[in-house]
Amino acid sequence: MKLSKLIFGLIIILIMISCNKAYIPEDIMTNPASSDTITYDSHINNIISSNCIGCHSGSNPQGNLLLENYTQVRNATENGTLINRINNPANPMPSNGLMSQSLRLHFDLWVNNDYLEN
Ligand code: HEC
Repeated sequence: MKLSKLIFGLIIILIMISCNKAYIPEDIMTNPASSDTITYDSHINNIISSNCIGCHSGSNPQGNLLLENYTQVRNATENGTLINRINNPANPMPSNGLMSQSLRLHFDLWVNNDYLEN
């Protein structure tokens, strides 16, 4: 009896964890138009949270690269490493494969928009 309650509790916890995925707004699932305004707060932060933050945060970030806030993401984008790696099929970031073209295009437009924060 106690064991079944424990298992039931664990299942509930697992469901809660899996539902806690970052919310992706509709407009970053489709290709952005070159006239769209892309900002860190509305777009880039969501993409990073869903695809990068698990490895690039905390006290021991992978590749020694933190992508936790505007300044860190902007620096990595401005110095070219981020754009290079997210578009590099031979050595992609995220490491398990390139993101959709739509998500990658958001970074190019963000650069064109001069790294708007909000
Ligand atoms: C599963 C873990 C993982 C995920 C997810 C991940 N990375 Fe990485 N990242 C790494 C590791 C490990 C390295 C260091 C080894 C290498 O460069 O391949 C790295 C290195 C990098 C580098 C190179 C840093 C440097 O100074 O050369 C960049 C840029 C980068 N990641 C960006 C990203 C971005 C942007 C995302 C999300 C779109 C992302 N990563 C998602 C694990 C990950």
